[in-house]
Amino acid sequence: MTFWLVQELVCRMLRPYSDNIFLRNLLSSNLETIFPMRLLFITDLDNTLVGDDAATIALNERLLADRSQLCITYSTGRSFASARRLIENRQLLEPDYLITGVGTQIHHQETLDPEWADLLSEGWNRETIATLAAAFPALQPQPDTEQNPWKLSFLLEVATPELVLAALERQFAAANLAAQIVFSSGCDVDILPTGANKGNATAYLRQHLGVSSDLTLVCGDSGNDASLFQQPGRGIIVSNAQPELLDWYHSHGQSHHHLADSPYAWGILAGLKHFGLL
Ligand code: GLC
Ligand code: MG
Repeated sequence: MTFWLVQELVCRMLRPYSDNIFLRNLLSSNLETIFPMRLLFITDLDNTLVGDDAATIALNERLLADRSQLCITYSTGRSFASARRLIENRQLLEPDYLITGVGTQIHHQETLDPEWADLLSEGWNRETIATLAAAFPALQPQPDTEQNPWKLSFLLEVATPELVLAALERQFAAANLAAQIVFSSGCDVDILPTGANKGNATAYLRQHLGVSSDLTLVCGDSGNDASLFQQPGRGIIVSNAQPELLDWYHSHGQSHHHLADSPYAWGILAGLKHFGLL
């Protein structure tokens, strides 16, 4: 009997037990061979995975059926603590990785990825950015819990936010400051290091795990998810997406992006079917 056939048989025999923690520990380094990864599944939380409880439960069930072959990653604008609370309150599946603060932090279990933190710190001048932003009264700081060393977040609730953001960008350029501004849901402003956003964090994780873009799927609903869709790999935009992401899709979307015709996690399920994944 050839090696691959033995491997396939072992794989089939063990698959029903693949969520057993004892078995996973025992197999540790051979796990990838025995349960090869089928998909790096990356989803935003608020208004994508979460928003319709029945849809979240249905998707969870679908993902659980293939859990051992999935790397589940949640990518959110929330802080790590707030994302953990949501995972617990909404009984979301335990993720393998958690990308928080709009791509500024990557956690594996409780551990912050120090390499990603170092990469973002290069050329990042938080204090000067904070001083420049404070000169814009329209930018109201979000609570301290939503700020982190690589993220300054504000609320901008004015009739023409684009004018304020353009003026802020000009200030950064004049001061030679490397920073990017991410606008979401018509009111949230995040100022981040140029290398930090959900898409770049995803690319870093994909390389770290050695997963090809063919095996990567991203899902989102708002402006801070646009960078996810700018990376190679398939993407699902749920039908309840915010205007800024729909605008992005209508001007930049490609055939590997799917605008679902159903909302929240129903849209993810529909997109999985559309792409023939899982
Ligand atoms: C989440 C975060 C907030 C951020 C927003 C958009 O709501 O809590 O800080 O501005 O996402 O990225
Ligand atoms: Mg969202």
